[in-house]
Amino acid sequence: MRNILVTGGLGYIGSHTVVELIKNGYTPIIIDNLSNTEIDVLERLESITNHKLEYYNLNICDGLALEEIFTKHNIDAVIHFAAFKAVGESVEKPLKYYLNNINGLNTLLNAMEKNKVKNIVFSSSCTVYGEPDFSPVNENAVIKRANSPYGRTKQIGEDILQDCKFLNTVSLRYFNPIGAHASSKIGELPLGVPNNLVPFITQTAIGIREQITVFGNDYSTKDGTCIRDYIHVVDLAAAHVKALSYINDNPENQFEVVNIGTGNGFTVLEVIQTFEKVNNLKLNYTIGPRRSGDVEKVWADASKAKEKLRWEAKLNLNDMLISSWNWQLELKNK
Ligand code: WQD
Repeated sequence: MRNILVTGGLGYIGSHTVVELIKNGYTPIIIDNLSNTEIDVLERLESITNHKLEYYNLNICDGLALEEIFTKHNIDAVIHFAAFKAVGESVEKPLKYYLNNINGLNTLLNAMEKNKVKNIVFSSSCTVYGEPDFSPVNENAVIKRANSPYGRTKQIGEDILQDCKFLNTVSLRYFNPIGAHASSKIGELPLGVPNNLVPFITQTAIGIREQITVFGNDYSTKDGTCIRDYIHVVDLAAAHVKALSYINDNPENQFEVVNIGTGNGFTVLEVIQTFEKVNNLKLNYTIGPRRSGDVEKVWADASKAKEKLRWEAKLNLNDMLISSWNWQLELKNK
């Protein structure tokens, strides 16, 4: 197994995964339509990896263009990142999410079936659990109706993959990816006002945003703010390489779902306080009303990843928030 098609490979998680693929001797073939990233990520990746990378500007819903990639390259496996992922936006524009995330997956799987490519690692999400009955949440937890169209596209995506018996699938359910590569050459590139907590924190710290609002402090948690399982994007990227090894070592067709989290939960205020401490600065924040759609607390039982994929997170919250700040400082100099 060598040639890996990476859809959305210039995106936040995709780009960090390309670095790990090269480190582990794979040849990534990147497709990305730049709808949520920018082309200079490619040259930054080539600088980090010291490799010339194969890249095609291609929309995942374009079946003819996709067919050409499969014809030109002997693809051994696919890692499928290409999807829209802003929870709030998906509530405002559900059809944009169903068209891109579901039609995109179907177009990809159609090309894989035609070209007899059966190995796929799917970018899924802990949002498939909705508000879990308890945390840590494991892969056997009841799948409730997701809180957003985004989460529903991940639930439907997993159902499609499970029904396609020609596939050998590992679906990775990400918890909250944050942080950036140690080089500070790649990281999260939120276009417009960030939806997520950590980019909003770093943009407030650097002065792009006036203040950050903590969405509610009346939850039944230690300090009243929501709990999440934050995972360093470099650890998350490494999990994709482990998933490829698992598929390679278990060639029979299957559908495996695996949580990718640290197993630790932190509140919003703990993240803010840790960010201030490790980066030696003060953040301007205020407490505001709850955000609709937020789950109160969710963190991973990551034991299946350790047992099946022989993967576990190595980096801690301090590492994540130092790398996030270093990346924001690098962005300022761009
Ligand atoms: C985290 C916490 C907010 C912004 C994300 C992704 C989703 C999925 C799961 C991959 C919440 C609070 C946030 C702010 C705040 N990942 N917050 N003020 O909602 O857990 O979902 O992880 O698939 O795609 O969106 O992440 O970073 O938006 O919020 O208080 O300005 O921070 O209420 O409790 P979320 P988030």
